[in-house]
Amino acid sequence: MLLTHHADLAMKSRARVSEDNLFPHVLPVTQVGRAAIKHQQPACVWLTGLSGSGKSTIAGLLELQLLGQGRHTYSLDGDNVRCGLNRDLGFTDADRVENIRRVAEVARLMVDAGLIAIVSFISPFRTERAFARSLFMPEEFMEVFVDAPIAECIRRDPKGLYAKAIKGQIPNFTGIDSVYEAPEVPEVHLRTSEESTRQCVERLLVALAKM
Ligand code: ADX
Repeated sequence: MLLTHHADLAMKSRARVSEDNLFPHVLPVTQVGRAAIKHQQPACVWLTGLSGSGKSTIAGLLELQLLGQGRHTYSLDGDNVRCGLNRDLGFTDADRVENIRRVAEVARLMVDAGLIAIVSFISPFRTERAFARSLFMPEEFMEVFVDAPIAECIRRDPKGLYAKAIKGQIPNFTGIDSVYEAPEVPEVHLRTSEESTRQCVERLLVALAKM
């Protein structure tokens, strides 16, 4: 089934780029083989939520727990990826679209490599999250809404950014003067003002085990 999926993806991308004379290969070593030597089910755990909602904290503990179970993971975090691969991007709507497109493609490659990719990006737009989902088989992708009310995120303000944004020193700040479109049907909905980090991670581990 995965082979069919990847052949299909290759054909779709071939259709998209054929005019540029590109011919993606279907390679002999596949995700199935790479995952088999790791004895794990590759997956993309996509954490979305406001800045300060708790995405990175949850991702960190989740990765630690998975490592303890012998799982091979990789964490893609917005602030980190924006210091490297996406350092040319800012926070306009267009740049956020490109930010998410790139990280979704990177996560796709990581899942293809047999890993459990944990993505922690605000990823404020539904269309881009739907694009990310479209790169995966349904059983490979888990959208997680890390939900904290904006008032709570402003109160926490771990990086002091909300204070600056409210003073008008950071334009296009999510939740202040840039929109956050909450997921309508996430696979997991975590409420970080009501549940502890440990409880949230427990729920994610249970959801991952069912994938
Ligand atoms: S996203 O909206 O494009 O998905 P991303 O997750 O990569 O955002 O980066 C968010 C991080 O960038 C925040 O946690 C915060 O530290 C920093 N940041 C700087 N400027 C902004 C801004 N205008 N809006 C939101 N976050 C910002």
